[in-house]
Amino acid sequence: MKKITVNADTSYDILIEGGLLKQCGELISQAVKSKKCAIVTDDNVDGLYGDIVVKSLENSGFTVSKLVVPHGEESKSHRQLIALYNFLCENDITRTDFLIALGGGVVGDLTGFCAATYLRGIDYVQIPTTLLAQVDSSVGGKTAVNIDSGKNLVGAFKQPALVITDTDTLSTLSEEIYAEGMGEVVKYGMIRSLPLFEKLSEGSSRKYLDEIIAQCVGIKRNVVQNDEFDTGERMILNFGHTFAHAIEKAAGYGNVPHGKAVAMGMYMITSAAEKQGKVKKGTADRLKKCLEANSLPHEYKISRDDLYRLSIGDKKRTSDKIRVIICAEPGNCEIITLSLNEYRELINLV
Ligand SMILES: NC(=O)c1ccc[n+]([C@@H]2O[C@H](COP(=O)([O-])OP(=O)(O)OC[C@H]3O[C@@H](n4cnc5c(N)ncnc54)[C@H](O)[C@@H]3O)[C@@H](O)[C@H]2O)c1
Repeated sequence: MKKITVNADTSYDILIEGGLLKQCGELISQAVKSKKCAIVTDDNVDGLYGDIVVKSLENSGFTVSKLVVPHGEESKSHRQLIALYNFLCENDITRTDFLIALGGGVVGDLTGFCAATYLRGIDYVQIPTTLLAQVDSSVGGKTAVNIDSGKNLVGAFKQPALVITDTDTLSTLSEEIYAEGMGEVVKYGMIRSLPLFEKLSEGSSRKYLDEIIAQCVGIKRNVVQNDEFDTGERMILNFGHTFAHAIEKAAGYGNVPHGKAVAMGMYMITSAAEKQGKVKKGTADRLKKCLEANSLPHEYKISRDDLYRLSIGDKKRTSDKIRVIICAEPGNCEIITLSLNEYRELINLV
């Protein structure tokens, strides 16, 4: 079993191995004091893994209640959050008890935000079951729900007490959802690890899941530890995201999956920056091949005007400048600050 310890405002372990679900009761016993918990999961994940988790917890002496929410982004809502608070009250979950998020990023974000706010904060354990949740959303303590005005607009930093990553759960993911997670995985290679990038370029990630996930988590852990509250270095995790958000907006939210938008955003900014000489020759082509090897797209048809207009609303912009992340070569990224004119010039080369 791989163990990665995160030293944030609280310290916790991320355990990674195929088959861990069956041992989750025992593992959780070592990380929390209470013997009472509520599981939050979605209707897809519940059918696949709900019973295994409940059984393991009960075998370890836990009293368990479970709320199953509909799968999909709509469950990251205030309506669902209020239903969850009421469910916890009805099941007498007190301040010393804890929650378990069993599922993808939607369940993780909803449960994490609930844990940050219910009774002014209780513990929670993450059991991520999508690739994206295992390499990204379960690490770093960002939690949120959506409101009508936008995604993730109401949230909190709340670190889990433990993360249990059973890589076997990825065997039931559709190829489509798996590929979306690979968008973020390739991003980690690009920003921080040439060996990871090279391994991913072989296109056989499923053979090395434990190793790849541990490397991604290790990279995110290091970045998050340096910048827990997202005021500086953590921004490098947004490589590809400035264009990705514009692509998602142009397509209408939900029409281009986020992981694919990130893949396209990474390639498009790298190719434009390469034309300006900011990136080593051939890097965009290497990235394109790596994305293709992982069933990911690299380009989106969007006018330069739309790309500019829809991306300058990005939160990395101040009144007349925008910060973007550029990888001069795989494994090596930097944050650069551009005037809006310089940003426009970059976009003109996309
Ligand atoms: N907190 C963070 O730092 C952070 C980072 C990135 C993304 N996010 C959030 O994560 C969310 C997206 O997460 P996601 O991509 O995991 O989506 P998701 O949670 O909606 O899961 C995708 C689909 O996969 C299904 N599923 C989950 N595990 C499965 C399994 N093992 N086998 C079969 N099906 C399974 C789910 O039921 C769902 O239908 C977004 O809301 C995004 O904002 C948060």
